[in-house]
Amino acid sequence: MCGIVGYIGNQKASPILINGLIRLEYRGYDSAGISTIEDNGLSLMKDKGRVKNLYHLEGIDDLTGTIGIAHTRWATHGKPAKENSHPHMDNSQTFSVVHNGIIENYHELRNFLTQNGYTFYSQTDTEVIPNLVHYYYQKDENHDELRFLRAVKNACGDLKGSYAIEIICKDYPNIMIVTRKDSPLVIGKGENENYISSDIPAILSFTRNFYLLDDLEFAILTREAVSFYDKDLNPTSKETKTIEWNSASAEKEGFEDFMLKEIYEQPTAIRETIGAKFNESTKCEFDELNFTKDYLSSINKIYIVACGTAMHAGLVGKNVIEKLCKITTEVDVASEFRYRDPLVDEKTLCIFISQSGETADTIAALKLCKEKGSKTLAISNVIGSSITREADYSIYTHAGPEIAVASTKAYTSQVILITILAIYFAEILEMDSQMINTLKKDIMELPKKIEETLKLSEVIQDFSKKAYQEKDIFFLGRGVDETVAREGSLKLKEISYIHSESYPAGELKHGPIALIENDITVVSILTDSNLVEKMVSNIQEVITRGAKTLVITNQNIDKNMFDMTIQIPKTNSFISPILSIVPLQLFAYYISKEKGLDVDKPRNLAKSVTVE
Ligand code: G6P
Repeated sequence: MCGIVGYIGNQKASPILINGLIRLEYRGYDSAGISTIEDNGLSLMKDKGRVKNLYHLEGIDDLTGTIGIAHTRWATHGKPAKENSHPHMDNSQTFSVVHNGIIENYHELRNFLTQNGYTFYSQTDTEVIPNLVHYYYQKDENHDELRFLRAVKNACGDLKGSYAIEIICKDYPNIMIVTRKDSPLVIGKGENENYISSDIPAILSFTRNFYLLDDLEFAILTREAVSFYDKDLNPTSKETKTIEWNSASAEKEGFEDFMLKEIYEQPTAIRETIGAKFNESTKCEFDELNFTKDYLSSINKIYIVACGTAMHAGLVGKNVIEKLCKITTEVDVASEFRYRDPLVDEKTLCIFISQSGETADTIAALKLCKEKGSKTLAISNVIGSSITREADYSIYTHAGPEIAVASTKAYTSQVILITILAIYFAEILEMDSQMINTLKKDIMELPKKIEETLKLSEVIQDFSKKAYQEKDIFFLGRGVDETVAREGSLKLKEISYIHSESYPAGELKHGPIALIENDITVVSILTDSNLVEKMVSNIQEVITRGAKTLVITNQNIDKNMFDMTIQIPKTNSFISPILSIVPLQLFAYYISKEKGLDVDKPRNLAKSVTVE
């Protein structure tokens, strides 16, 4: 949450900073601001609202500074308002700071600083940082070139919580300092210029070479170089990583919205994620993993832990791991898992799924499992993200940058990757080879079938026109279709603001059916041939009570019963969620468009939730 951008070079900083913020808006969009170093000191321009409002601020075009910091906010402490927007300055206007994260002990620090004569002008936790830096700065009698860095280091020593911080100082007009703890921050290396960002896509058009800062490290950026220091300010060294994503992949490329583009990128994302993992005649390989039959036979449980859509991918993974590998698998949301003293030890394998690799609760759950002695495996879309640096093992989806807040191609890529992981385990454990080989064959055909499914877009758009004014929409499914119902319902509520619930269809009669009344829309997913009759009966029960029905199916059923049937291609039941979610993604998308909403940046949400 919150996006931060920084620039130091020979170009005018302000347009680069605003451009970077626009690309990071999916991290937060309730207020924005920038601060640059000008000939007469630090500039500060900020306001409530979207990043583009910055273009209209008086004086913004007059900024000529070539070093600056910027921020787009997702409010935690203090409502969206100009005074709570970042950057924040200390009272003497010597330092300007942007911050992503939460300073948990800010009350205590604020009291301490107030007693020492400092005044606060916002309700934010962040404002303590520049003042604390100033406090240590003015106490330091050694006025050498590291005085600024020492002040930042001493201030950070007092902070509890999470932070990614950029800070500039009017006394040091040619450097910028950054540091982080449990919040993302990357440094982009250019030619005589360097960049900072919360996420790679924002600065991908400037560079593909990145330094990944570790927790509690400091970096000093000049135009020519970046130098690194550990938590005690001992100099350290670091190599850049080259990111394969091209800058076009972070652009809309003719699509109206990122979400639509990302829905249509799914065949490619799945092809890339399958990559060279297997063919029908050879065993599935992961270069990054070295699991043995002894180890896999010794584990008695797998936990899959994640948040939001990634957790829904985990639910699909549970089905395939349990059936293919015969290992009990539990799925949990990270924010619950970590507080319920889970039974995790060296006989448990813990898998963490996170598109961004930066979700605070998922990272904290991973750390907990490591402490408890279990092996940890991360599944992420972002190379070098925090979760992959913490885990014992990491494997990657190859979905490319996902910009829309509502996850689509990352979800289907996670589902395919965890399915392939299950095959890898099953082959090591020498499980049912016929089942494995059939699944492998079906996986190879999947991208083409997604392409076919995408052709149904127009029909779905038509149905959306009938449903967009609904107040409530229900989703039903059984077995693996129930996990798809959950994801379909989440997509819809995220971007259309229509109240939506998903239920296992068999649970309908235990309560939810009381909510079914004339003309309410019920969406059902029906892909499991063993459950056709049961599902059809459940759908009949809602039709009898006046519901309008949309059915997504790959079975041969009597379509006359339903208001609309979307016939998707048949595939292996393990991977059918990858096909059946596509119409539901499009359904949510077109409903949101009909309502005239901002599909890519739904209210109150952020793409990457880096606070707990
Ligand atoms: C946020 C996003 C969701 C995402 C979830 C987990 O809530 O809006 O789209 O599924 O975080 O994110 P992660 O990056 O860990 O997959």
